[in-house]
Amino acid sequence: MNEEIPNLTAFDEAALDQAFARLERQAREAAALLSGEQAVEAFRLQWLGRKQGRLNEVSGRWLKTAPAEARRALGLRFNALKAVVEGLLDAALGSGPTDAALAREAIDITLPGTRRLTGAEHLITRTTNEIVSVFAALGYSVGVGPEVETDYYNFECMNFPPGHPARDTQDTLVIANQERRPQRDRLLLRTHTSPVQMRTMEMQPPPVRIVIPGRVHRNEADDATHSSTFYQVEGLCVDANITFSDLKGTLDHAMKALFGSAVKTRLFPSFFPFTEPSADLQISCIFCGGKGCRKCKESGWIELLGCGMVDPAVYAFAAEKQPAYDARKISGFAFGMGVERIAMMKYGVSEIGKFYAGDMRFLEQFV
Ligand code: DAH
Repeated sequence: MNEEIPNLTAFDEAALDQAFARLERQAREAAALLSGEQAVEAFRLQWLGRKQGRLNEVSGRWLKTAPAEARRALGLRFNALKAVVEGLLDAALGSGPTDAALAREAIDITLPGTRRLTGAEHLITRTTNEIVSVFAALGYSVGVGPEVETDYYNFECMNFPPGHPARDTQDTLVIANQERRPQRDRLLLRTHTSPVQMRTMEMQPPPVRIVIPGRVHRNEADDATHSSTFYQVEGLCVDANITFSDLKGTLDHAMKALFGSAVKTRLFPSFFPFTEPSADLQISCIFCGGKGCRKCKESGWIELLGCGMVDPAVYAFAAEKQPAYDARKISGFAFGMGVERIAMMKYGVSEIGKFYAGDMRFLEQFV
């Protein structure tokens, strides 16, 4: 290919035609083999390079040695050849990779791609969100508190005095090696979300309307309906003139929103240290509609949550930081419910352990 440009001995039309045809053929053959940017650039230098390019040599040797009468014919053919070479170069630059190069890079776009699983809400999260949104729609805000809590917040300020038997109702997991601390500062895993009632009141004066979802822990043996770790949603409403009727109406509305408008509610006397009076809320059995079945132990009613009017003793603790919690001026109610229990009823889950086992066959049913 790098064949030297021969000197021309004859300058008649036939000799010129032959000489230029030969060069054109060489250029076309070389261009046909081009593949890749480097090769194209080498072709350009070889033919059009300013110093050693073949066209430069042609003009140097042939045009300069040509007799005057042959110059015009030679010049025409030279320009024609130059146009051909430039055309070949343009084609090579614009034509992209060769078929062979494309074949090497080819991928099979009909092969199936990598499937990525889309994340989905866990049933506990979904149920928590459902409960929270029912109250959010009533104007409640949403709060959270620490899972590792002090004895003061978990018990003392919620009116469980040290040594009081009410503490035995919530068998507690405590953090080790804290004997040197005063009892109220000792750390434990919170047994309920109620301490966040106090944390909320300490941070803001009344009015308060808040729901608090969260994880809680008890030192309990696991069985079909109990787990040592579980979830609650706490509620607190404090304002001027809040009455027991407000508690009743709010919870009745919430249960209808969660379980359907046909559900009835009733309150049963109960005891919690931080409410007075205290009550358990029952709903008409969602499985039999209240007629009586195995699920409601033939009673037609299912116990769902604890509630009551906030005990003045609790306001007294809150008033240490927020004096506006004065039991003579304000009143309120509180409630607390187990998320698993509600999820089990709503979604027909019979074993609480299924929520935590991470078995995809179970979890995928609720996506
Ligand atoms: N904290 C109670 C428990 O875990 C539930 C509870 C009952 C919360 C009555 C309340 C309430 O706010 O008023 O057993």
